[in-house]
This record gives sequence, C-alpha cells and structure tokens, in this order.
Amino acid sequence: MAKRLLRTLAGEAVWPPPIWLMRQAGRYLPEYRAVRAGVPDFVSLCTTPAQAAEVTLQPLRRFGMDAAILFSDILILPWALGQGLRFAEGEGPVLPPIRDAAGLAALDPGRLPQAIAAVLETIERVRAAVGEAALIGFAGAPFTVACYMVEGKGAKEFPAVRLLAWRDPALFARLMELLTETTIAYLSAQIAAGAEAVMLFDSWAGLLPPRQFRDFVIAPAARIVAALRTRHPQVPVIGFPRLAGLLLGEYAARTGVQGLGLDTAADPARARAMVPPAMALQGNLDPLALLAGNPAQAAETAAILAAMRGTPFVFNLGHGILPETPPDHVASLVRQVQGA
Ligand code: CP3
Repeated sequence: MAKRLLRTLAGEAVWPPPIWLMRQAGRYLPEYRAVRAGVPDFVSLCTTPAQAAEVTLQPLRRFGMDAAILFSDILILPWALGQGLRFAEGEGPVLPPIRDAAGLAALDPGRLPQAIAAVLETIERVRAAVGEAALIGFAGAPFTVACYMVEGKGAKEFPAVRLLAWRDPALFARLMELLTETTIAYLSAQIAAGAEAVMLFDSWAGLLPPRQFRDFVIAPAARIVAALRTRHPQVPVIGFPRLAGLLLGEYAARTGVQGLGLDTAADPARARAMVPPAMALQGNLDPLALLAGNPAQAAETAAILAAMRGTPFVFNLGHGILPETPPDHVASLVRQVQGA
C-alpha cells in the first residue's frame, strides 16, 4: 500500500488527510536549536549529511507527520553554482548580487554535481529512516531564486530583479534559463537519491504582473515538470506559486503539477473549483493562527478541513511555520487533523 501522501498526490481523497508543515524543521524546536548550536553556520548544517538528516527527522519523531521535507534551503542552488552565500544572524541570507553579464558569467553549472553531493547523501540517509512517511525533495522556482540572486538579500518587493527583467530582458532571460536547467538537474538528482515527491517553491510569484507571471512563473514550472515527468514519471511535483491569486487556475492547468500549494490568502473552496478534480491541493492554515493557538487555531483548521473533505488534500500551512510557534500548538494541530 502506497504512502498516504503519495496516494493523495495521485488523486485519491485520503481521509483524514496527510499532514506536514512548511519549515517543520527549524528554530521553534528545541532539538533543532541544539543541533544548530553545534555547527558553525546554516550552510554547514545544510551540507553536513548526518546533522541535516537528523533535523529532517525531528518533526516526524515528535509529531508523527506524514512527510519529511529535506532539510536544506532554496539558496543552496546559487551557492552550488558558486555565488557566495551566508546567513547573517537575525538578518537572513546575504549573497553578492548579480547585476550584469560578468556576474552571470561567474556562475558555473559544472560545480553542481560536486557541490550537491552532500544534499544527495542527506536524502539517502533520510529515505532509509522515514518508514511510512514520504520524503519530499525541493527547490526554489527560478523566479524566486533569481529574486535573492539579483537583490543579494531578502527584500519586501525585490525591486532589483523586477527592474532587471524590464531593463535588460536578454540578461534576465539567460539567468532564468540557467536556473531552469540547473533546477531540472538538481531535482532529478534528488529523485534519483530517494526523494518520493518534489516541491517547487515560488514564494515571490505574486509580485509579478500577469504577462510576466506567465513567462517567469508558469513557463519555467511547465518546463521543469515536463522534464522531471519524462525522467521520473511516477514522482509527483507540488507547485507553490505563492499569492498567485486569479492566476492560480492557469498555473494549475498549464504547468502539469500533481499538487498545488495554497498560500494563506487563497480560499480553499474557490481554489478547488479552479483546478482539475484529481489535483491535490495543499495548505493553508495561517502560520499566525498556529502561533496564536486555540481557539483560533482549531476553528480555522476545522474550516479548512470542512472545505476540503472528500477531495485529494494535504494539510499544511499557507507559508512557513514561525520560529516563535509553541511546539504544543503543532502537536494539537496534528491531533485535530488526524482525528478529522
Ligand atoms: O523544514 C523545511 O521546510 C525544510 C527546509 C527549508 C528551509 N528553507 C530551511 C531554513 C525550506 C523548504 C526552505 C525554503 C526557503 N528558503 C524558501 C521558500 C519558502 C518560503 O519560506 O517562502 C525561501 C524564500 C528561503 C530563503 C530563506 N532561508 C530565508 C529568507 C531565510 C531567512 C529567514 C529565516 O527564517 O531565518 C532562510 C533561512 C532558513 N531556511 C532557516 C531554515 C530552518 C533558518 C536558519 C537558521 O536556522 O538560523
């Protein structure tokens, strides 16, 4: 019998629905902070297989999630291409920004196989230990990864990359092409190492006007999904075009994804009506409702479950779990969903 998450992504209305949470491994867990304190920096944690596998498995042990998501980061791809990356304490990611042809030319896809070897070893270790939970691999979608590569850090609206796309479309297209091709290679290698599903995070998709959304979000996702499905036809892809709004249905229809991640702002019932009936939806409890706890958390969870009952659905948050979240709230959420 296939794993609950994989049955759901194959279009079956498994109930109670499988549950996992974006950023389920992280600072809200004391056992994560303990491992994190023993490594020099976040990139080292992502590239040390024993520790990365350990923190991947921590939320499964504590809460009994239906899936493990590889512990890594979407910015490991630019790091593997040779763009510098560090995580400044309390400040988020910092990269030397790419703004011209010379910056782009310095990236080297030839470094990829060697640079991602540790990530693949983490996947092998986790896969051997997940039991009935499914192992999800992931990458950032090209536009969202480009946001950080061009801005050089986190930002509210990522003006640098959006200006580059308007001012120098040829250079931006070359960056997107490089990211699309290397993302296919990276996810394909994750699947070969043991990932049973993969997720494409397009966290900043909702910043784009519709024509650019089609060119920079839908088109690259469609290429990535087609290439992965040719090589690994059994492995489902979950797309997460955050804040896609009215373009969610178009993303679902044209990318070929098997699962669609809903952000906090998406109405689950309306989303259900916008996508093919066999497409699994995933989401979308407000991370702040989970931080607040009960009664808000339980009421909001019940509303999402009621809207999704009888359809292929994976319970998750609408965005990553916040570091201040009490682990007890997560335990209570998992109990409620498992009792649905
Ligand atoms: O548990 C999991 O979900 C798997 C691991 C994972 C991380 N990041 C670990 C992480 C995943 C899937 C990501 C994805 C990611 N990373 C995204 C897409 C999803 C989203 O949140 O929109 C983005 C945009 C990033 C980039 C990123 N990584 C930022 C902006 C930051 C700094 C903000 C912060 O929370 O500190 C990170 C760091 C990061 N990635 C941490 C973790 C656990 C915290 C680092 C630490 O432990 O000090």
